[in-house]
Amino acid sequence: MKIGILGSGSMGSGIAQIAATAGHEVILYDKNKEALTKTSKNLRRILNRLVEKGRIDDAAANAIFGRIYLVNNMNAYAECGLIIEAIVENLEIKKSVFQQMESIVRDDCILASNTSSLSIASIAAACEKSERVIGIHFFNPAPLMKLVEIIPAVQTNDKVLEESQKLIDSWGKLTVITKDTPGFIVNRVARPFYAESLRILEEGVADVPTIDWAMTEIAGFRMGPFTLMDYIGNDVNYTVTETVFTAFYFDPRYKPSFTQKRLSEAGYLGRKSGRGFYDYSENAKNVEPIKDIKLGKRIVERIVAMLINEAADAVFWQIASKKDIDLAMTKGVNYPKGLLQWADEIGIPKCVKRIEKLYKKYGEDRYRCSPLLRKMAKKGTTFF
Ligand SMILES: NC(=O)c1ccc[n+]([C@@H]2O[C@H](COP(=O)([O-])OP(=O)(O)OC[C@H]3O[C@@H](n4cnc5c(N)ncnc54)[C@H](O)[C@@H]3O)[C@@H](O)[C@H]2O)c1
Repeated sequence: MKIGILGSGSMGSGIAQIAATAGHEVILYDKNKEALTKTSKNLRRILNRLVEKGRIDDAAANAIFGRIYLVNNMNAYAECGLIIEAIVENLEIKKSVFQQMESIVRDDCILASNTSSLSIASIAAACEKSERVIGIHFFNPAPLMKLVEIIPAVQTNDKVLEESQKLIDSWGKLTVITKDTPGFIVNRVARPFYAESLRILEEGVADVPTIDWAMTEIAGFRMGPFTLMDYIGNDVNYTVTETVFTAFYFDPRYKPSFTQKRLSEAGYLGRKSGRGFYDYSENAKNVEPIKDIKLGKRIVERIVAMLINEAADAVFWQIASKKDIDLAMTKGVNYPKGLLQWADEIGIPKCVKRIEKLYKKYGEDRYRCSPLLRKMAKKGTTFF
């Protein structure tokens, strides 16, 4: 099957590489000629590096590169069985390109969007055959990240869902199915990792390196929340939080942080600008963490309790299956443990107690305990 990719930016070119590696001919279209030239050079460089590392041989690299056709005209999409759109995150522009694509493609061609924050239903609504539209959400960098979220819209046909999942699975990815709600699984369930850490910082409970130390050394996360925010970029991370917050009708649970907003406004974007929560300049001296185990444990308990609450609520609202929620967080963002499994290990009544303690202390809706956790604590049940 020929695969079409719309947009040759960081996501589009990564997805094109995956599909071509899986043996498909790929039609990669971008309206910007310079972007196409840049992508072609980048892809060649990436494939050469894979050869240097011994991951693939020369012939395979040439074959993969040869299967990617860079075009600046959508007409070549006429022969594709699936097209994945990865252009600018703007609903009106996405709607208009989906309409354009529909006038070119075969009747049985599946049209997918890689959007991180827009509703698939609203994109599908722009199409005549809205039942062929689906969300296929890769993570950055796409060739390296194993997880892909598959998002059927209310309009999506079951066969389209089934075929899309089967195809992406055959590319060696791990797929999870999620409801068409803001943030899907990962960008929703992960919010407290950032939000609660920022809150702990803003309250003066602990400083940046101490919170990062607690979350890596005690909780076992690969990166501390502030190191990760600096890595993602404070501008990008803030925007995701703000988008999720707005999309959830300003639910205080997702409230963005002024601290991060100000850093972003100041141009302290993180690694890419040389400064964020940490200073990345040469000879910079960053503050050492206070390695107080008691304080560290308190930090971990608070952040993990809020993460578990979010994951439990995603089960409560039937966003995805319990298995897929845990898979998404362990395989997608490398959490040391699935949050629901973690909840079972801590003990559901203990989790409820921790969350209710926060709620009592602050009296804020942000700390309301998921009804599912409370019910489970009462009944003495576990997730798995
Ligand atoms: N960057 C990430 O971490 C990430 C992760 C998951 C999903 N996404 C989503 O993937 C999509 C693309 O993100 P990105 O980071 O690759 O963007 P990007 O800015 O790197 O690339 C976008 C590309 O689309 C092209 N483009 C813009 N409008 C177009 C149009 N009308 N027709 C054809 N080409 C057009 C641009 O020339 C550019 O090359 C967005 O919807 C984003 O939300 C991004």
